[in-house]
Amino acid sequence: MAQISIVPASTQAGKATISALLSDEKTARIVGIYRDLTKVPSEFITHPKFIASQGDIASSPSLDFSNSDAVFYIPPPVYDGSDVGETARKHAENVKEALTKAPSVKRLVLFSSMGSQYDRDIGILRVNYVSDQILKDSVAEVVIPRPGYFQENWQHAFQTLKLDPPVFYTPISPASHKIPMISIEDIGTICAQKLLEVGQPLLSNPHFFNLYGPRNYSSLDVKTALEEISGKAIEPIVISKDQLASFFAERGPPSVVQEMVDMTTAALPGGIMVETFDDEDGTVRGTTELVETLRKIYQS
Ligand SMILES: NC(=O)c1ccc[n+]([C@@H]2O[C@H](COP(=O)([O-])OP(=O)(O)OC[C@H]3O[C@@H](n4cnc5c(N)ncnc54)[C@H](OP(=O)(O)O)[C@@H]3O)[C@@H](O)[C@H]2O)c1
Repeated sequence: MAQISIVPASTQAGKATISALLSDEKTARIVGIYRDLTKVPSEFITHPKFIASQGDIASSPSLDFSNSDAVFYIPPPVYDGSDVGETARKHAENVKEALTKAPSVKRLVLFSSMGSQYDRDIGILRVNYVSDQILKDSVAEVVIPRPGYFQENWQHAFQTLKLDPPVFYTPISPASHKIPMISIEDIGTICAQKLLEVGQPLLSNPHFFNLYGPRNYSSLDVKTALEEISGKAIEPIVISKDQLASFFAERGPPSVVQEMVDMTTAALPGGIMVETFDDEDGTVRGTTELVETLRKIYQS
């Protein structure tokens, strides 16, 4: 029976992992750390094994991991205009300092990303490269999943599906190029399992592994899934490499436009991370198909 701390608990991966942990009898207690306690989901507040705690990764003294056996840290993306690498470094060092004050913590599961093994040309995923480097030997057991693109990122397509004719925008080009994608629910299930295995031997330490869905998917696969769910013929509007900057400029803060372009380019043909898309030793694949994830969103 393990006590597990999750920080920041408001992240997509954090929330899914808490849900999986709360339904597992090996969980003794979950401490969800939020910088804003109004963000705690009501279904967690009422759960007898769940405690919400106030803490911000921007301030080490606010992070209390005492009595926890394992910690799950999800480095958030940096969208506030500060230097991405520098902010990620400060956050990771704050987490590391808090870990040194909590000798009960035997295992850290550090959420990372595909591409985090590269120290360049990965755009905003530098957050993950930097966090991995700082925390990879911070406690006795360190487990570092490198997930693919979240299948849920396509939920924006349900807005443009309402247009006549129905379309969706995709930055993955050419349309047949496949990349790893995984559902957030599978992420939660697998990260919960890794946290509950605290104390069990690791294949390697730190243990890095790819965390992908059942297979890789292309923009054409997204089209097929959306057509199956909606019953409509849908055209992808495929954004070419040279249109990526204007595409992201319309969708996010100016400070991260180039970071998003570089991250996306790294996953396109010729990009630095494409060689990691096939199964490598230790790759874990979730079971949820893209069409199942998108159907749940469509029906919700
Ligand atoms: N999205 C993907 O497809 C994908 C794929 C692979 C890997 N990843 C990795 O997953 C991680 C999370 O990325 P995401 O885009 O999915 O983000 P996300 O889960 O949507 O995370 C944003 C959350 O971070 C919290 N947060 C930000 N700064 C904080 C701080 N100083 N203290 C406490 N909480 C803070 C925010 O909390 P508030 O609610 O308080 O604002 C917000 O809930 C990143 O490391 C990313 O590289 C993402």
